[in-house]
Amino acid sequence: MVNVEICIGSACYVKGSSQIVNDLNELIKEKHWEDKIAVKGSFCMKACQNHLGLGIRINGNQLEQVTAQNAKEVLNRELSKILS
Ligand code: FES
Repeated sequence: MVNVEICIGSACYVKGSSQIVNDLNELIKEKHWEDKIAVKGSFCMKACQNHLGLGIRINGNQLEQVTAQNAKEVLNRELSKILS
């Protein structure tokens, strides 16, 4: 099981983290990954303070420079590497 954590802290919420949750759920359906990915919300993971973009972790690894605009593409790329 691949664990994806999405920050629901206020800085990330303002930058569109709720849209990322929707995009990720869409991606999971499109790719039929329902049994392979667990999505969880997380409190601030300090990505906002370290200028890393929105707070998203895959199996504990912080993604960098993710925005609401590129999130679906980045998640697709990173999750495909793990699941293919
Ligand atoms: S509020 Fe999301 S990483 Fe800080």
